[in-house]
Amino acid sequence: MKILILGAKGMLGSALVEQFKEGNEVLAWGREELDISEPSAMAGAITSDIDLIVNAAAFSDIDAAEAAIDDAMKVNARPSAVLADMCNLLGMTYVHFSSEHVFPGKDNRGYLEKSKTEPLQVFGNTKAQSEKFALENDSTYLIRTSRLFGDPGSSVRAVPGLVQQIKEQAATQGAINSVHDEVAAPTYVKDLAKAVRELVDAKKPYGVYHIVNSGYATWYQFAAKVVELAKLNATVTPVARREMPLVAARPRYGMLVNTKLPPLRSWEEALAEYLQ
Ligand SMILES: NC(=O)c1ccc[n+]([C@@H]2O[C@H](COP(=O)([O-])OP(=O)(O)OC[C@H]3O[C@@H](n4cnc5c(N)ncnc54)[C@H](OP(=O)(O)O)[C@@H]3O)[C@@H](O)[C@H]2O)c1
Repeated sequence: MKILILGAKGMLGSALVEQFKEGNEVLAWGREELDISEPSAMAGAITSDIDLIVNAAAFSDIDAAEAAIDDAMKVNARPSAVLADMCNLLGMTYVHFSSEHVFPGKDNRGYLEKSKTEPLQVFGNTKAQSEKFALENDSTYLIRTSRLFGDPGSSVRAVPGLVQQIKEQAATQGAINSVHDEVAAPTYVKDLAKAVRELVDAKKPYGVYHIVNSGYATWYQFAAKVVELAKLNATVTPVARREMPLVAARPRYGMLVNTKLPPLRSWEEALAEYLQ
């Protein structure tokens, strides 16, 4: 297959390139190769011999999105419409990523693939829009996931990932304050990328999938586990979300329930492997 991966220098994009490169011809494009906020650039660059477009590009900063609605829409939502249209027209498969932020997080049973989206913040709105556009193409895999950890992307603008931030704080401050009242599934990008490849290779029915490691955790539980497994010299203190200086609202219960695919291993097992 000829596969185009967009956002290929991001955290997930890099893991997807690694997963898909064996046995496929992979075009790994970062922002330098194609700025997806420019629809005409996309139309000019994407050729009809591509079989699969995997869009891992995103405006990822949830707090910054509150004051940059248009920029966030330009990267998160509108390209999804262009790519879905293009895939429809040219008979390609489209893989799009979304997140637990499309849900309000008020239901402590979590959210199913078919649950109604109702975001709390700008970022979630842009992702919910992107979902609608993506699903206008009949051959779309829409994959929701949450709290990715793994190696950060390789782009010059890449920011440290969750584990790197915890290690950095432990090293510089020896104390970490971490939110205890928001729950979701920490997910290892490598496990996610592998599951995406399996989904595509198995030609599963198109539609919405929730791909996360098994089990859920608060930010506090995750940070404490990183400190324990990596044997960091730091204390972790649980704090309420309202005590943290964050701009955008977050879902309290961001648990994505997977009813369609075999479950992935637990996040603790994945984290232990990553930290080795
Ligand atoms: N990280 C998470 O916890 C998480 C959770 C749930 C869902 N997701 C979803 O998973 C997907 C991948 O996320 P990620 O964590 O891998 O994000 P990431 O590390 O921030 O990577 C996103 C990539 O998109 C690129 N990009 C931004 N604007 C672009 C543009 N205009 N044109 C082309 N590329 C552009 C970025 O390039 P630059 O570095 O050059 O800006 C970056 O390499 C996203 O859809 C995200 O919403 C992530």
